[in-house]
Amino acid sequence: MNRRYRKTIIAGNWKMNKTASETKVFLDELKGHVGRVKWCEVVVCVPYVDIPMALRALKDCRISVGAQNLHHEERGAYTGEVSAEMLKDLGVKYVIIGHSERRQYFGETDSLVNKKVHAALDAGLRPIVCVGESLEQRQAGITEELIVLQVKAALAGVPVEKMRQIVFAYEPIWAIGTGQTATSEQANEVCNLIRATIRKMHGARIARAITIQYGGSMNAGNAYELLAQPDVDGGLIGGASLKVPDFTAIVNAANQEQ
Ligand code: PGA
Repeated sequence: MNRRYRKTIIAGNWKMNKTASETKVFLDELKGHVGRVKWCEVVVCVPYVDIPMALRALKDCRISVGAQNLHHEERGAYTGEVSAEMLKDLGVKYVIIGHSERRQYFGETDSLVNKKVHAALDAGLRPIVCVGESLEQRQAGITEELIVLQVKAALAGVPVEKMRQIVFAYEPIWAIGTGQTATSEQANEVCNLIRATIRKMHGARIARAITIQYGGSMNAGNAYELLAQPDVDGGLIGGASLKVPDFTAIVNAANQEQ
């Protein structure tokens, strides 16, 4: 991380876990530990139905609430979907876009990811855009090409003045939920590549201001080393965000004075 130029953000991705009642119990406890941290922003990306409860539980502290998805249209006949405006109106600040589970299980393509990025930005939400390669792609030596493509596709048509709203998360698919973390060098290398891609598109000032997280089995034991890398500006955390002590330890690793 490099706090001189950009914000460190630790975001929990709860995926399809916790009911509204469990959300309240969890967040009441969590805010006692990380509700006032100074050097990083803490976000919890909860299931849609838990959002009102999360916002209520966190109203008197600094932890922000995010969603895990949105629909790219403003409104209409899209049964079961939720728009950016609906999230914004509730008080949501962040939204995860293009998570590999959405790409894999729900057929989300790069072009859909791009539409969702636009929808989020238009509504005033901050997208956390996920990119990452599979094990086969890494072994085939196409990680670099793929990441550059995913970043460019996600950012297509995004005006330069909205770029600072965007957060990227490098999430190698082989590291998600597997307990197999990327080494800190691997994580930094790809986060650096994402930044270099943004630099080519929008220049050095924008590129160095963008928060780029690492995600994939980040935990209390490896967070410090990953976050010590110059281009790793935070984490998107699945499994370890569901336990207060683990998530607190990761936030503490990010919250050290530099
Ligand atoms: P994990 O998930 O921390 O459980 O590997 C990360 C993610 O999917 O965002």
